[in-house]
Amino acid sequence: MSDSQSSDAHPSDPQRNAPPPEVSSRNPAPDDPVPGVKNVLLVMSGKGGVGKSTVATNLSLALARQGYRVGLLDADMYGPSIPTMLGITGQPLSDGKKIQPLQRFGLKLMSLGFLLEDPKAAVVWRGPMLHGALMQFLGEVDWGELDFLLLDLPPGTGDVALTLSQKVRSNGSVIVTTPQEVALQDVYKSVSMNRKVGIPITGVIENESYFICDGCDKRHELFGSGGGQKIAEMAEAPLLGQLPLDPQVRQWGDAGTPVVQAAPRSPVAEAFLEISRKLVERLDEQNRQAGADLSIDRSGGVNRHLPITRS
Ligand SMILES: Nc1ncnc2c1ncn2[C@@H]1O[C@H](COP(=O)(O)OP(=O)(O)OP(=O)(O)O)[C@@H](O)[C@H]1O
Ligand SMILES: [Mg+2]
Ligand SMILES: [Zn+2]
Repeated sequence: MSDSQSSDAHPSDPQRNAPPPEVSSRNPAPDDPVPGVKNVLLVMSGKGGVGKSTVATNLSLALARQGYRVGLLDADMYGPSIPTMLGITGQPLSDGKKIQPLQRFGLKLMSLGFLLEDPKAAVVWRGPMLHGALMQFLGEVDWGELDFLLLDLPPGTGDVALTLSQKVRSNGSVIVTTPQEVALQDVYKSVSMNRKVGIPITGVIENESYFICDGCDKRHELFGSGGGQKIAEMAEAPLLGQLPLDPQVRQWGDAGTPVVQAAPRSPVAEAFLEISRKLVERLDEQNRQAGADLSIDRSGGVNRHLPITRS
């Protein structure tokens, strides 16, 4: 068993020297598949193509830059995009007990894309197989001790979120939307889904909110405005931030080095960093509230800290 301090960490791994900053934890059930993970965070949206995978990868990197130990699980079993976005391929190894996640830029990674011979081939799943594979990615991968495990969810709501809600105590979710009205109906559905299955909504991120053009330096709201705020109000959760539409985001994503890693001082990377800080704060509030609601530690002694402990 290796843990996040293992020597195979990427050289740019910001956690190599300093201990990770203290972060509060969810309260996993005794049969939780990832007991060493303090926070399980779903990145989702009812709508396709709004930037879930972009947000999941860049937020993961933004958290890692703050010194947290971060894993990213590509829960998109139909169209995995983590391998492309992080420029990584390769077969994860198994010691017969646990599968070792791949590592890149200090993140621990797992994606169905790593296991396919032809990553571009269509994958056909029957429901139970899909659920089984997802549970294997959680329980049989050696995630070790992590501060955050982010799950990049496929578009839509139903299946994956439901499976997850039943098997792992996800203590937060981030809803990604774009500003335009047509996107909102689908995004509302994921909000109400989370409500139904009891996954707390940590915040909303509005992607492709505006475009700053070279011509006049003005902020152009190409897709209208106010969508993120509307979703946030419905979800009774904060709007964690607005991200610009920036060609760099797509270019770096396609090149396999997300913008937060490639150009950490660019305005869009700064926006991701700011969002990641707000996210940690808000998640911490949610953890403390949840802790305050609990009278017993249900982790069966697995938790090193009681749910309400804070540094
Ligand atoms: N802020 C942005 N500026 C420019 N391009 C962006 C931005 N956000 C996302 N993109 C680009 O838009 C495309 C779709 O993004 P992404 O794959 O992250 O969406 P998604 O919601 O995960 O899609 P799917 O529903 O298919 O999983 C990608 O090519 C990505 O690089
Ligand atoms: Mg995606
Ligand atoms: Zn202009």
